[in-house]
Order: sequence, then C-alpha cells, then structure tokens
Amino acid sequence: MYRVDLPGLGFFDVWRTAARCLLSHGVAPEEVTWSRGGGEDLFGGKPLPRGNGVHYVSAPRTFPALAKSVLCHTDPGAPALLYAALHRHQKDRKALSNPADPLVRQLAQLSKAVGRDVHKMHAFVRFRELPAEGKRRRFGAWFEPDHFILEQGTPFFAKRFADMDWTIATPQGVARFDAGQLTFHPPAPRPDLPEDASEALWGTYFANIFNPARIHLNAMRSEMPVKYWKNLPETRLIPGMLEAAEARVQAMREAMPGEAPARAARILERLPQNTFPERPETLEDAREAALACRRCGLCEAATQTVFGPGPQDAPLMIVGEQPGDQEDLAGEPFVGPAGRLLREVMAEAGVGPAYLTNAVKHFKFQPRGKRRLHQNPERDEIDQCRWWLDIERDFVKPRLTVALGATAAYALTGSHTAMKARRGTVEVARDGGPVLVTYHPSYILRLSGHEAEDARAALLQDLQQAARRVKEMPRREDLAPH
Ligand code: URA
Repeated sequence: MYRVDLPGLGFFDVWRTAARCLLSHGVAPEEVTWSRGGGEDLFGGKPLPRGNGVHYVSAPRTFPALAKSVLCHTDPGAPALLYAALHRHQKDRKALSNPADPLVRQLAQLSKAVGRDVHKMHAFVRFRELPAEGKRRRFGAWFEPDHFILEQGTPFFAKRFADMDWTIATPQGVARFDAGQLTFHPPAPRPDLPEDASEALWGTYFANIFNPARIHLNAMRSEMPVKYWKNLPETRLIPGMLEAAEARVQAMREAMPGEAPARAARILERLPQNTFPERPETLEDAREAALACRRCGLCEAATQTVFGPGPQDAPLMIVGEQPGDQEDLAGEPFVGPAGRLLREVMAEAGVGPAYLTNAVKHFKFQPRGKRRLHQNPERDEIDQCRWWLDIERDFVKPRLTVALGATAAYALTGSHTAMKARRGTVEVARDGGPVLVTYHPSYILRLSGHEAEDARAALLQDLQQAARRVKEMPRREDLAPH
C-alpha cells in the first residue's frame, strides 16, 4: 500500500505530483492511502515509486480546476475520490463527462460546498486597521472557514485590496499580502485585532439595509449563517434590531405620507439650508467638511460622503451622477461596475490624469430586501450638492470637464436638454468652463447587443475628443477671469 500525506498548505501541487507518479506506474486507487497533515496510518505505507512510470497520464481540461477545489474540502476521502476519478479517465476518456455518474456527482457536490465556503469568506471577512509600519495601510482579519480554502479564497482580496497590506488568519493557516506579494504561512495563534472605525461603518450599512417590515429569519440565517456572527461586527445589532422591529414597523405605518401641515413650507423656508456658509480654504478642508454635510436628506441613509479623491492639478475633471452601492461603502467614486467601464474606456482613449467626482456626493437608494437600488437624485438634491461641485471646480480649475449623463450635465450647465441631442458636444458650464457631454457608463451597462456597443463607442469617441482637447487647451487659471 502506498501512502501520500498532503500538507496543510500547497496540497494541490503535492497531490498532483503524487497522482501523476502513481498513475504513470499504473497504481490502482485501492493501493493508495491519502491522508492530510500526518493523519492516521502515519507509519504505514511504502514510498512512492521513483521517476515516471511507463504510462502516459491524461486529464480532462477542466479537471485541474475541479481538483483544486475538491481538495479544499475537509472530507478525508476527497483526495482518494479525485485519484479514483483520474484513474478511471485513463481507461475511459468519457468516464468523467457523465454528470449523472455517482463519482462525478460526488466530486461536483464537494466542489460546490467549497465554492460556497469561498463565497462566504469573500462576504464575511472583516478587516480591522492595524498601525501602519510604512506607507501602506495595514489590516488584519480573523476568519473560520469550513474547508481548507485559504489559498483558493484569498487571491480575491489581493485583487480587491491591492493597495494595502493585509493578513487573513484562519485556524488552517495565514495569508499575508505585503507590498503586492501574497504568501501563505502555517497557522498561528488567533491575533488580537483592535476594533476600528470600520466597525461603525459596517453597523451603519447593516442598519440601513435592514428592513424591519421584511424580516425572514430563516433566509437571514441561510445568507449569513450564525457561525459567522461572532466575527461580524454588524451582527451585534441584530438582537436589538429584531426586538425593535415591531415597534419600527408600527411607526412606519403611522408615518405613511399624509398631507404636509400647511405651515411646513413656511417653517422650511426659515430653516438655514446652508450649513457651510464659509468657503473652505483648501480642497482638503472641503473634503473634510463635506463628510458632515447635511445640505439635503441624502446624508441620512448613505454610509458616507463620497468626494473627489483628486488629483487637484488634473487638467481634466470627469463628473458622474452620484456614488453607487460600492462607492458608498468604499468612500471613493467609480469603483463599482460603472467605474470599471469608465476606467477601461479612459485607458483606451488615452485620457491622462483626471479628477473624478460626482454631481451628488451621497448615494440615493431604495432598500429592496438586502439590496440597495439606485434612485435618481431630485433636482433639489443636485442643486444643494452643487455647493461642493463648485468648490471642487474652483480648486481644480480643470481645462475641460466631461459630464457623464444627464445629472452631471444639468449640475454643470443648468440645462436639461435631452442627452441624445447634446452628447459629444461641448457646452459652457455655469462657471464659464467648457463641458463635454457624454453618456454615463451605467447607461451603457443597462443596454445590450448593438445598442451597448454603439453607446460604448460613443463614450470612447468622446473621451478621445476630451484627451485631444485637454492637450490643446490652456489651464483655466491662465485665462482671463470670467
Ligand atoms: N456612478 C456615478 O455616477 N458615480 C460613481 O461614483 C459611480 C457610479
């Protein structure tokens, strides 16, 4: 009997090398014991045959991905099942293509369970900020997966949080991402991670998406299994929110919109609308002040104000509508799907550094179950938020501004002309600067087929025009005051 012991990390490579060797020597599945991390039968088993055997080893194209996933499963039989499958494939090339075959089904089920676990990891890892040691911010998280998914699950975070250093510790090992390098290490004792401001952020987000009128405890537990709760800061709110739910639903019923009292309009007129009468002295001050903005009601439900991140000396300003769901959580504009499309087309068009911002700085949404559905801002909300856009424009003084979609075009020019008629044209902003009007990437994402292709081509053409114009135009500060 041969015996292969798989390590806690890097087990796929070890399994693959051993499987290749065993198959090339024609070793039958029942002649091999697979164990993990020095399981039972530690002293039994003979060493693997030396060198390649005489048999050619083949595997279906999709097998490596399946094996990588199945091997993560904690089922001790998983490595042997995989070996049995590959052994069968050597004799019958169709053996693994029948999804109804019990072995194929069993492998698919194991892989599915691992996929679910990876998904939960992506959803439920909560980072806490650690004191920085260099220029990059550092974060740490503790997570307890069901399966051995550290190596499968963490590359997602490397892509998503490429600009910070982080550690994800699990009982099975530790993933470290330092200066763009992802490495894996043996398990270490659970780190002591101090609470930070992100706890409050998660709490706010969760409280916002929690709808007391739509409580489905079973659905909630299946989406967010109770075993993860202890490491999720927002779940501390659940008992209190459940307790208060009935009273909140009653209050919601009582607060159903009725006639506004006649005096309401007069009172509103007298209320100070502008809570920031003083113009900030720097763009940084403006960004800080905007965090506490209450110029309209949108601040109530949004997680945070999303201001333009800069750079202040960019020759081009690109203005969108408002942050979306992902921007609201990240605190940065254009990091979600529309942002990805925008950045892709900007790169294709050769657009250089641009100051990216939005006409409205808070996410306006309608909670729908656990989702937050985008809502268009009202004219009054756009007008209130223009206070910030004007300040950004004053500091940045872009040579050219691109308005993405109708809201940005209205905020910048005051005109409501339909998009079809104005796209690709340069208009004059309220402050006198040139504004090139184009489609919003979210609009393109809502289209399909030829319509989507045409709209994307139009956006590309407009951004190419913007890149050309920016090169030719003087800075606004070099022009006579308007
Ligand atoms: N859409 C916008 O208009 N702005 C963003 O920041 C993201 C999506």
